[in-house]
Amino acid sequence: MSATPRSPVPQDLEAPLPMTLPRLAEKKRLGERIVMVTAYDYPSAQVAEAAGVDVVLVGDSAAMTVLGYSTTVPVRIDEMLMLAAAARRGLQTPMLIGDLPFGSYEASDELAIATAQRFIKEAGCDAVKLERGGTSVQRARAIVESGIPVMGHVGLTPQTATALGGYKAQGRTAERAIGVARDAIALQAAGCFSIVFEAIPAAVAAAIMERLEVPVIGIGAGPETDGQVLVFHDLLGIYDGHAPRFAKRYGELRAQMVAGVAEYAAEVRSGAFPSAEHTYSIDDEELHQFRAGLAELA
Ligand code: KIV
Repeated sequence: MSATPRSPVPQDLEAPLPMTLPRLAEKKRLGERIVMVTAYDYPSAQVAEAAGVDVVLVGDSAAMTVLGYSTTVPVRIDEMLMLAAAARRGLQTPMLIGDLPFGSYEASDELAIATAQRFIKEAGCDAVKLERGGTSVQRARAIVESGIPVMGHVGLTPQTATALGGYKAQGRTAERAIGVARDAIALQAAGCFSIVFEAIPAAVAAAIMERLEVPVIGIGAGPETDGQVLVFHDLLGIYDGHAPRFAKRYGELRAQMVAGVAEYAAEVRSGAFPSAEHTYSIDDEELHQFRAGLAELA
């Protein structure tokens, strides 16, 4: 017996559903890899939306990639909020996570909650991310208890890179790997809905994941994590600063951008731009009258 033909699904019902915490957890359960990328403004968020990513992070890597600081440490809350609000305007579907900048959450639970609330209220973020285990575990717990979802971040935590001995892989000795595992397990127990693993050996990441139920998003943590995150400017080759070993390039946009602006500059200097096709015209009679009127102007 043939099945009753289904009526076509109305177009608006086919639009992708906004990403939610239960859908992220479901993706992990089903073994569907989670795609996360950073974005820092309206156009980069629109690109992430059009590319169908699951999660967008307004990372404090913006300090270097878009604001020109040499580390993530100096970026301020107001700078991050402006970038996050712009990214929000470019997104409908992915979950938007705001990175709490260095100095905006460590001192007390009250400070952590107040800063997290600003990312939700002023920038429209769905969740926030903070770095490290240690005292950050309690800050994560406090933010979660205030009703705001929190993503943790362990391994290489750039806000405290100096204390970690620089921007290098973490957890490469048994003792240090236990430290990373302890942080991750504590962040999960504090209520984090997901944890970023940055720059740790793949085998260490895989072993820690056996102890975790929440989705783990890796960056330089090997192929076993539940998802991957890359920095927008690294993956598209927009940024000419140092790119870490784990940052695979899927484009060389900076070279194209420089070539485009250089060609524009050359055409302006030679007079080739603007040509007729980029120029507005006026009817001859109107021009004649205008010239006559102009001559009479004082
Ligand atoms: O700031 C950032 O971009 C990040 C990602 C690398 C996870 O924290």
